[in-house]
Amino acid sequence: MQQRTRIAPSILSADFAALGREVEAITAAGADVVHVDVMDGHFVPNITVGPMVVKALRKHTSLPFDVHLMISPVDPYIPAYVEAGADIVSLHPEAGAHPHRSIQLIKSLGKKAGMVLNPATSVAAVETVIGDIDLVLVMSVNPGFGGQSFIESQLTKIAALRRMIDATGRTIDLEVDGGINPDTAKKAVAAGADMLVAGTAVFSGGPQRYAANIKALRG
Ligand code: DX5
Ligand code: ZN
Repeated sequence: MQQRTRIAPSILSADFAALGREVEAITAAGADVVHVDVMDGHFVPNITVGPMVVKALRKHTSLPFDVHLMISPVDPYIPAYVEAGADIVSLHPEAGAHPHRSIQLIKSLGKKAGMVLNPATSVAAVETVIGDIDLVLVMSVNPGFGGQSFIESQLTKIAALRRMIDATGRTIDLEVDGGINPDTAKKAVAAGADMLVAGTAVFSGGPQRYAANIKALRG
């Protein structure tokens, strides 16, 4: 069942020199979840933050941390991100030979596990593990950078995943990441998404704009 729309600001678009204050500002502005993009310069062509940064941010909010791992290999680092304070850990099926094992590892550490589908990755990649996961994340841009345009073809995939999730009868978040603005947010929610990642659209205009920016995404 589609849940209420939750907004997950991606701190990739925050002021990296003031990350603690930025996380406090989005918390005060009504964010539901904090989305942390972890990139290794290998799986994706950019490098961001390690577990130490996640740990340092943990004391700046009580919101859940939604950690999106764009790294390969992924398994060796999962425990460190969980220890640092991740509540949801998501990975790409292409990140390793045994994504089901990665999911089991996350679950064994008591956290929610998510599977991420790149724009060219089919829903089939999630079908065989749908009974084991808590979240599906649809990339509506190619991962690596903020500020890209929403890829409209992903709407069909979101709708297919909505049907797949509903057929399980379980509560599984359907999250969309990339190029989300008030217009694309509406389309993603209409297709069945219930969690929206937004970097540029939340952090533009500085902290005094964050509450209005988040509200605009709720539609
Ligand atoms: C891309 C990241 C996204 C990105 C979204 O690799 O996973 O979370 O920061 O940024 P916007 O909202 O600017 O497209
Ligand atoms: Zn992300």
